[in-house]
Amino acid sequence: MSYKFPEGFLWGGATAANQFEGGFHEGNKGLNIADVLPGGKERISILKDPGFDFEIDPEKFYPNHEGIDFYNRYKEDIALFAEMGFKVFRTSIAWTRIFPNGDELEPNEEGLAFYDRVFDELLKHGIEPVVTISHYEMPVHLVKEYGGWRNREVVTFFERYVKAIFNRYKDKVKYWMTFNEINSGLMMPIMGLGFSVHKEEDKYGPTFQAFHHQFVASAKAVKLCHEMMPEAKIGCMIIYAPVYSYDSNPENVMHAMEESNIFNYFCADVHVRGEYPGYIKRYFKENNIQLDIEDGDLELLKEGTVDYIGFSYYMSRTEKKDKSDVEGISGNIMEGIKNPFLEASDWGWEIDPIGLRISLNNLYSRYQVPLFIVENGLGAYDKVEEDGSINDDYRIDYLRKHIEQMGEAIEDGVELMGYTSWGCIDLVSASTGEMSKRYGFIYVDRNDDGSGTLERSRKKSFYWYKDVIDSNGEKL
Ligand code: BG6
Repeated sequence: MSYKFPEGFLWGGATAANQFEGGFHEGNKGLNIADVLPGGKERISILKDPGFDFEIDPEKFYPNHEGIDFYNRYKEDIALFAEMGFKVFRTSIAWTRIFPNGDELEPNEEGLAFYDRVFDELLKHGIEPVVTISHYEMPVHLVKEYGGWRNREVVTFFERYVKAIFNRYKDKVKYWMTFNEINSGLMMPIMGLGFSVHKEEDKYGPTFQAFHHQFVASAKAVKLCHEMMPEAKIGCMIIYAPVYSYDSNPENVMHAMEESNIFNYFCADVHVRGEYPGYIKRYFKENNIQLDIEDGDLELLKEGTVDYIGFSYYMSRTEKKDKSDVEGISGNIMEGIKNPFLEASDWGWEIDPIGLRISLNNLYSRYQVPLFIVENGLGAYDKVEEDGSINDDYRIDYLRKHIEQMGEAIEDGVELMGYTSWGCIDLVSASTGEMSKRYGFIYVDRNDDGSGTLERSRKKSFYWYKDVIDSNGEKL
């Protein structure tokens, strides 16, 4: 069956500055959170464990420092995106290139000039940039000196950063998003909220206070964007994973609903409806969480609602109230139990294309705002054959099945703006720091230990995706 995607559908690929730029000291860039996260499976436990000190250990390897060297190779990479026919390219701006410590008064010209070069190069090829303002790359100085997003002062620093980039790129960037996967702060405050909760500390008070500061910061950015760039669109960005109940026992169904409310909807509700939902107020009350909300904050949330929802979709989640007699999922940051109907990737991420159609329908029927899938893809080991080819049929199969479900959702009436698959060029994994967890259409010769030539080559999926875009999704 072939699907009809809307005219002007935004096909493309997605990345994040910290995972592919490298050049971690070039152009006066400061240190950000990803720069102090070592590579390897150890990273997952750091992200989940309390007490991380945000220091660099000279004995360890830090893969984000060199990334895949997009900093110096952006022209070559953008030419490859253009060859695939990308309409859009999603990346983020590294806050630390613009404000190396985060609390300076004036932006760093070298950093601003770098993104001018990148955006100009994209536009030259007819590719619109889609920009995430903050993607797991807060300045480490703000983490150490201010305590990350739990400190209200960070809102002021963020506002200064946003003003600087809006001012500079207002004529070049039409699509913006504020915080990448903002709800991930619930699972990994280190990356999303810029702090590590001490062992003895109650986790939830500081986490929700930090969220409040991000909501205020996001609303300010939205308002400013609307004032300065009336033609532009600005969205929030969440991870969405539909939560299935293990069975039809109403206790489990209710549990799944509660998990979904907090995980999938809490942040989106505030961004799209501009207010704290009832279920979270109840949660705060029952858990004795009192937020410090300043005068004018709640009005601001109402005034700064987003134009669209950007979201990542990798998997669904299955939940049961009492998990003692069922198998959990492993290798994954996401909680939940094993779904017997689904296969998983080599990293334990359960593959569920129909879950994407469910997600699109859930989000659209709840909010009635345009949706943008800004991440989706399969992290897999790739094998380079003797003749240099990479036959990643498993990736094509994964993407095809997900795009088919997008087609179904569009038939269901969902307003979908576009699709940028994650890691369109191989890059450093966020959760494990590995290079071998590859998502790309473009292979990068770099290994987990940093060896390799950094040479780029086209995988089989490169040609497949080119045809998908060329046919506006008809040829899958
Ligand atoms: C999302 C993040 O969670 O998933 C990306 O926004 C990340 O930064 C992507 O890279 C895939 O996760 P991972 O851990 O496989 O890199």
